[in-house]
Amino acid sequence: MMRKLAAGNWKMNGGRASLAEIETIATDLPRNIDVLICPPATLLPLVKAKIALGGQDCHIAENGAHTGDISAEMLKDAGASYVILGHSERRADHGEMNPAVKAKAEAAQRAGLIPIICIGETLAEREAGRTLNVVKFQLARSLPESPAVVVAYEPVWAIGTGKVPTLEQIAEVHSFLRARLVQRFGIPGNDIPLLYGGSVKPANAAEIFAVPNVDGALVGGASLKACDFKPIIAALAATDRSI
Ligand code: PGA
Repeated sequence: MMRKLAAGNWKMNGGRASLAEIETIATDLPRNIDVLICPPATLLPLVKAKIALGGQDCHIAENGAHTGDISAEMLKDAGASYVILGHSERRADHGEMNPAVKAKAEAAQRAGLIPIICIGETLAEREAGRTLNVVKFQLARSLPESPAVVVAYEPVWAIGTGKVPTLEQIAEVHSFLRARLVQRFGIPGNDIPLLYGGSVKPANAAEIFAVPNVDGALVGGASLKACDFKPIIAALAATDRSI
């Protein structure tokens, strides 16, 4: 059975002083969902709190002459169990293309990490009516061969902007992605968590989590503070009908 996932993407934010915030987030977590923080890699080995951790990128090689890079094995060694890959900021800042994202995802799986593969259209692509084509292409090219992944749909224009697609728009993309995953992987495609990401906040979390095929969220800005992230976690936990 798939478990829902609330994942915090701290991006390039946070130092030792933020460890206390992670402690607060990790206190009294609901048991029926998974909660994950992806802090900067510098913090990973310092986190003592009982919470799942993830990296924000990894190299395709296990080690070697790649100055400034970090391998999936190193993330695992530092305490991570997930890694975000192909985030639109990495695609934009570092020119990452789908084949590189796929190779990184396979490296992550080899190291025993669960990759969180990010896909999503730009505003120009949405306005041109190309959203489903864009995410279909990204999904086909950036997913690894094994279905041990999480997929995050993050419209580029919704990230850090306060703009959110309508619930109908989220539903359309998520049901489309679910169908593609089942087509590709068969029954296991139903168990791949499909996260929504882009300006998720306490005020809109519950309505987004009620959308069919939304199995959680990848949260940026609102994951940095426990007072914002905790209500989002609670809203996701409340969607689990088995409790
Ligand atoms: P945001 O970022 O929640 O700050 O919009 C989401 C993300 O980039 O994963």
